[in-house]
Amino acid sequence: MPSPSAQNPSAGDSYAIEAYGLTKSYGKPPARVLDGLDLRVERGSVFALLGPNGAGKTTCVRILATLTTADSGTARVAGHDVVAERSAVRRAISLTGQFAAVDETQTGEENLRMMARLTGLSRTAARRRAQELLERFDLTRAARRTVSTYSGGMRRRLDLAAGLTGSPEPGVFFLDEPTTGLDPRSRQELWQVVRELAGRGASVLLTTQYLEEADRLADRIALLDKGRIAAEGTAADLKGRVAGHRLDLVLTSREGYLRLAGRAVHHSPETLTLGLPTDGSAAHVRALLHEIDPAGTEIDRFTLHSATLDDVFLALTSEVPAHV
Ligand SMILES: Nc1ncnc2c1ncn2[C@@H]1O[C@H](COP(=O)(O)OP(=O)(O)OP(=O)(O)O)[C@@H](O)[C@H]1O
Ligand SMILES: [Mg+2]
Repeated sequence: MPSPSAQNPSAGDSYAIEAYGLTKSYGKPPARVLDGLDLRVERGSVFALLGPNGAGKTTCVRILATLTTADSGTARVAGHDVVAERSAVRRAISLTGQFAAVDETQTGEENLRMMARLTGLSRTAARRRAQELLERFDLTRAARRTVSTYSGGMRRRLDLAAGLTGSPEPGVFFLDEPTTGLDPRSRQELWQVVRELAGRGASVLLTTQYLEEADRLADRIALLDKGRIAAEGTAADLKGRVAGHRLDLVLTSREGYLRLAGRAVHHSPETLTLGLPTDGSAAHVRALLHEIDPAGTEIDRFTLHSATLDDVFLALTSEVPAHV
């Protein structure tokens, strides 16, 4: 539902981030990466931008964080225009992720202290801030090692800590795939950090390829596909838009599997299982089974379960699953 500020891009008070009609092309001939992207992130919320490799997530974040400019369209972050008020935007945001800027040849502690100094803290305050962040991100033991020796998970935690060296902490956080490559424990820890940030009133835009991450963390989720938002809403909204439930059928033959594969939103060729959308009512399930298998010979077993975000993603984007 359009809010007043959706019609008036300058009325940005309730939004941490708002973008209208962003386009961006790369290469010759130009390939369109963003194709009229609209986005609104409410203040104090966690917003997940979800998309497969190459969907344009990083490009979108880079435009919003003023590292590159859109070919057309406008965006405001923390109430400031990303082109006309670039410095104000930069002061209001923290950016970590695929392009983080820690110095590999320095230790974790040196990096944090240097960044804290750059944000204007005194030497003593910077040292204190670095210690706090090293503790918060479980890096105290690695504090005196050069970053080049860090594991991927440690490196990612340092990237995040580096974005928090300023005081006061920035109000808008861009986290580009913050948990890619992390082990499950480190991922949970980062989720906790993101929740803490949101709990303090910060707004967070994170990109992820993990549906589970978006489901667990985000107040709202947008599915990015072909440079546009293919669907947006809460996890529950999105699940509800596709079909409340999925009927998984185990077929008795490969022929039956192939015949029905085009209708399915979930495919598992090894087990001859196909998932079909349904509202979950007995009437619909019964009608579906009867329609698919009138003779009662093609379906071996079935299970019914609530739709997952994976189902939503496959149904609402052009990602075609391999079914044979
Ligand atoms: N500076 C650039 N020059 C040329 N092409 C680019 C540039 N940056 C991005 N692209 C292309 O734009 C497309 C989108 O890239 P982008 O990095 O935004 O995707 P992404 O969703 O972040 O992907 P990933 O999940 O792999 O990080 C890709 O096809 C990429 O090759
Ligand atoms: Mg990316």
